[in-house]
Amino acid sequence: MKDTCAVVLAAGKGTRMKSKKPKVLAEILFQPMLGYVLETCRQAEVEKVCVVTGFEAEQVEAYLSTWEHMPAETVLQAEQRGTGHAVMMAREFLQENIGTDVLVLYGDTPYLSAEVIEAAYLQHKRQNNAVTVVTALLQDPTGYGRIIRDGDAIAKIVEQRDATEKEQAVKEINSGVYWFNTAHLLEMLSLLQPNNAQGEYYLTDTIGLTIAAGKRVGGYCAENSDIILGANSRKDLYELNEKMRMSIIYRHMENGVTFASTDGVMISPDAQIGADTVILGGTIIKDHVVIGEDCVIGPNSLIQKSTVGDRVKLNAVQCYQSRIHSDVDIGPFVHIRPNSEIKSFVHIGDFVEVKNSTIGEGTGISHLTYVGDSDVGKNVNFGCGVVTVNYDGVHKHRCRIEDEAFIGCNTNLVAPVRVGKSAYTAAGSTITKDVPDYALAIARSRQEEKPGFAAKKLAGRKKKV
Ligand code: UD1
Ligand code: CA
Repeated sequence: MKDTCAVVLAAGKGTRMKSKKPKVLAEILFQPMLGYVLETCRQAEVEKVCVVTGFEAEQVEAYLSTWEHMPAETVLQAEQRGTGHAVMMAREFLQENIGTDVLVLYGDTPYLSAEVIEAAYLQHKRQNNAVTVVTALLQDPTGYGRIIRDGDAIAKIVEQRDATEKEQAVKEINSGVYWFNTAHLLEMLSLLQPNNAQGEYYLTDTIGLTIAAGKRVGGYCAENSDIILGANSRKDLYELNEKMRMSIIYRHMENGVTFASTDGVMISPDAQIGADTVILGGTIIKDHVVIGEDCVIGPNSLIQKSTVGDRVKLNAVQCYQSRIHSDVDIGPFVHIRPNSEIKSFVHIGDFVEVKNSTIGEGTGISHLTYVGDSDVGKNVNFGCGVVTVNYDGVHKHRCRIEDEAFIGCNTNLVAPVRVGKSAYTAAGSTITKDVPDYALAIARSRQEEKPGFAAKKLAGRKKKV
């Protein structure tokens, strides 16, 4: 939307959260509520955003610095003296954007959608309003500011504690989302007075002032009242999380994903999952994950910032910032750490950790193995208990294992080291030198026998049974 900007109110502490974090950073499906609001502004193509911070402002600023695609300025509201006062803090920002319309909204409304913002904006422009209030109809409007209409236009907003009995019966409420003509908002802010029960500067008082100035206030009633949902307590937060969790799961079901049970399953809003994939209980999929078709993910797997191909099985796997190609079978109890690439037809079995490594096609790492900082070729076989010794206490070094190599059980590969093509290492070897192609390396002491040793010992041994 051309010539638009937004002021996001995010100064609140959220006392009932009992948290060290400001309320807007409380998370729903692993993303702070503020993130949803910024994403909505981005989708609606609002051109500039100013966030009003207050409680633990540095935390909000730190979070905003992670938002490259929606840069936002901040202003501090050191003391919280009402929603009108909060917007006053953004005066300079508003002055810089004087020729625009400004969206005012709260930083803790994760269900507000870009569609509602856009539709309200269109009506705002069409009706040539000085202010357009986004409203909603609630069965139980208790606690919200009530919309008092005069025909199609809005006459005023009365807060719960200031409302008469008749006004309290009104079910149309103020969502706290508004479109203002920016120049007009600046003018109205200078007129606000803290003349109310709480001694606060109410943003809602700009409505009465606008009408007194002979300008029009419109109301855009959102069809879905979810747009007002926010969280004031951990219980509210849990309920919002649960609502979003299930709506995302249902969306994946519609796309052909199977959920045998949704217990403990959490999926970030941005995840993509292919048809005929099965998600089993206790599985968490967060932050930009793409999963292909016909996979079985879970039970009890956690996948973050990773790409997974088709026909992949991940059973009790933790996988971070990595790429898993198609036809791979991993688990149970496997840790795939960042910057790993697992190519097709790889099998990784129980108690294996892979870090910053490439595992070539068809390779098997069946049990109790650590592969770190390594480049592993195709069809390599790892015996049980192999360790890449990649850290000398100061530096990390890489191991290179060529195609078809066979790494015997309990081999230590002391990096930097290369195991050649089709080469073998004997079980229990500690390999410190490169192994040539097709060779067998044995690096352990030779076995020695002492015949009859036991017979002498046994004579002096007591038996229990
Ligand atoms: C406000 C509206 C009410 C509306 C309701 C919708 C006013 C006077 N009333 O009431 O009509 O129905 O929202 O939820 O505006 N904030 C600041 N700084 C402040 C005060 C508030 O940043 O000084 C932020 C809060 O962090 C919060 C939001 O503004 O995110 C709303 O503030 P709150 O005090 O909860 O307003 P309500 O009393 O709910
Ligand atoms: Ca509130």
